[in-house]
Amino acid sequence: MSPAIGLAVDRVDARPKVSGTARYTGEVTVPGLVHAVLVGARVANGRITRIDASAAESAGGLIAVLTHHDLPRIVGQPQLLPSLAGLPAPGQSFFPMQADVVHYAGQPVAVVVASTIEAAEHAASLIEVDYAQSPANTVLDQVRDQAYVPEKIFGGMLPGRMSRGDVDGALGQAQLRLDETYAFAANHQNPLEPSVTTAIWDDVDRVTVYDSTQGPTATQLTVAHLLGLPPTQVKVISEFVGGSFGAKAMIWPHVTLAALAARQLGRPVRLTLSREQMFHSCGHREEQEHRVSLGARPDGRLTALRHQKVSVTSQFDDWAETSLQSPAVLYDIPNYEGIYRVAKANTITPTFMRAPGEATGVFSLESAMDELSVRIGVDPLELRMRNIADHDPTTGHPWSSHGLRDCLQRGAELFGWQHRDARPGTRREGNWLIGSGLALAAYPQVAPPNPQRARARLYSDGSAQIEAGVSEFGTGVLTAMTQVAADGLGLPVDRVRFVGGSSDLPNITAAVGSAGTGAVSAAVHLAATSLRDQLIRQAIADTRSPLHGADPGSVTVTDGRMMLRDRPDTADGYADLLGRSLIPDVETLGVWTPPPPDPGYGMHTFGAQFAEVAVDAELRLIRVRRMVGVFAPGRVLNRRTAHSQLMGGMLWGLSQALLEATHMDPALGRWANPSFNDYLVPVNADAPDVVVDTIEVSDTVVNPLGVKGVGEIGVVGVAAAIANAIHHATGRRVRRLPIMLEELL
Ligand code: MOS
Repeated sequence: MSPAIGLAVDRVDARPKVSGTARYTGEVTVPGLVHAVLVGARVANGRITRIDASAAESAGGLIAVLTHHDLPRIVGQPQLLPSLAGLPAPGQSFFPMQADVVHYAGQPVAVVVASTIEAAEHAASLIEVDYAQSPANTVLDQVRDQAYVPEKIFGGMLPGRMSRGDVDGALGQAQLRLDETYAFAANHQNPLEPSVTTAIWDDVDRVTVYDSTQGPTATQLTVAHLLGLPPTQVKVISEFVGGSFGAKAMIWPHVTLAALAARQLGRPVRLTLSREQMFHSCGHREEQEHRVSLGARPDGRLTALRHQKVSVTSQFDDWAETSLQSPAVLYDIPNYEGIYRVAKANTITPTFMRAPGEATGVFSLESAMDELSVRIGVDPLELRMRNIADHDPTTGHPWSSHGLRDCLQRGAELFGWQHRDARPGTRREGNWLIGSGLALAAYPQVAPPNPQRARARLYSDGSAQIEAGVSEFGTGVLTAMTQVAADGLGLPVDRVRFVGGSSDLPNITAAVGSAGTGAVSAAVHLAATSLRDQLIRQAIADTRSPLHGADPGSVTVTDGRMMLRDRPDTADGYADLLGRSLIPDVETLGVWTPPPPDPGYGMHTFGAQFAEVAVDAELRLIRVRRMVGVFAPGRVLNRRTAHSQLMGGMLWGLSQALLEATHMDPALGRWANPSFNDYLVPVNADAPDVVVDTIEVSDTVVNPLGVKGVGEIGVVGVAAAIANAIHHATGRRVRRLPIMLEELL
């Protein structure tokens, strides 16, 4: 590989972002633009009996109040499918404002359009809506009795129950048994940029949509399906997105509502969600409980695991985040059963949020493993080593790449684990009780089900442009893909421009499930290398080229110059070749066909997390003092952006462990803390010393460059490492996230 891959190249979007020229969806200048805001239902269950807009109509600047009475109906019905599927990806199988029914609080009941956003917000505050209210269930305690095992979860992609071996028998015979329940508050993603959509109709049947999305094509296909238009008549542009964390992975109703309103009014409409509306409009991590039943031999070898989850879902979808998949592959356990139960409540369909499922499921199992290690007096690291699965225990297949034991060992060295006294509550510094904990991490490597495409174009000035319809929501994809293309073409990084952010460009999958970089890098690599090969063949065929007649396999390209190894006299430049042939540019499409659903290998990313905490002996304040995370994400394309993502993920883990909770008020059926005042996220002062390291495992299965994701593995296991450290510091085991200091008093 040429040196471009792996380097800590500066972000290509750094300058536009810090200088303010990077354009976000809400900043696009559109002549004649009007502004829309949503009015959300104040009740969680019922029917709309009256909407009175008379006060709003006398307010200044109002253009229209659209309700289910006058908004045109959608044509295609939404059906829940993950946005990775390359198909329409609505966030739920229900579209609001089609009738008077209300299924959840915050469900849009009116779109208010005005000349400015301030006027729209003011007018929206004056709309009076009356409801015939029905009793609403919104928390797990109200619906637990009605929970059922769905045949499928995750948009029909995964079964509701999985098993191998004889888990009843093995648990019955186990010499050691552990049965514990772990509970999780609902969480919201809270990206810095709230979702914004701008819809501009060219005429009655062709619309351009600027959208904050993780996948321009996913938005295009969803809006086209719901409006009953061919995809060619819906163009989606998303140049920069101000974070997402899963909130913009699926396409939520406000996007299509903006398009409907713009068509109805015959004007460009920008619909902006308020911070509060972000809590009601884009899904969330559902409230859930896990019961973990472990069977083990006295030496800690695991014989059985039953992992049961029960969670809250909407009236219309069997959504459960995939909490059971990753814990099921960490350890070599012959007898296993995983069961999802869901209970319908009055909520929007839950959705992806920062390691959706892995962050909760691994917390449960890795807390239980810590409990087992304390019970049998085996060091937590040693207990893991005795049980780690060196092949995929769910299928018996080999791993495409693993590296988990190395991660654990490297992490232990970096952290200084070997000096640990295992007895809880023995280390004290002044008023602080000090403890340390560890946990493993796993995240699935999901292959998109369809071909992924990118285009590479070389111009006669020797520069290249690479195109794929990705969105840059903070991951660093533009930078990493510039490196991949430079590497494949044999060009310096500064001669390559990567362009994304439009549904007109090649490629299809949204960047979800930490699979974006793997998928796009595969297509970009294939596009760049096939363009390079095409140019080499062209030079060899050209009688004017010093390479005429050469063996194509012996030609290398560096700095845009093709030549035989160690033969500068044979050099021919890309620019020279195109210039003398009067060809302004050449281009090639790279098409990557991902591995099939069962490629004969287990595909996961692994890691190990370590945390040290200090707990105030009287006040029980919890401080995370340092964290170490070591991961094996395959090939690292850019050391700086990859490590930044992993570090960010570890801070999400701190946040999950100690801060993040959205509280439902069951009396009102609404979230009680939908603001940055009341929904706690960490700030710099909360961030401890974080050490990130990677182990580069070679993977020839997942994709051509062997790239596994770094987007979310960083969060997995952190909360368990922190909870285990709190137990070590205090002797107190907390089985509920976030961990509140009250529980330690
Ligand atoms: Mo990511 S939370 O899988 O969009």
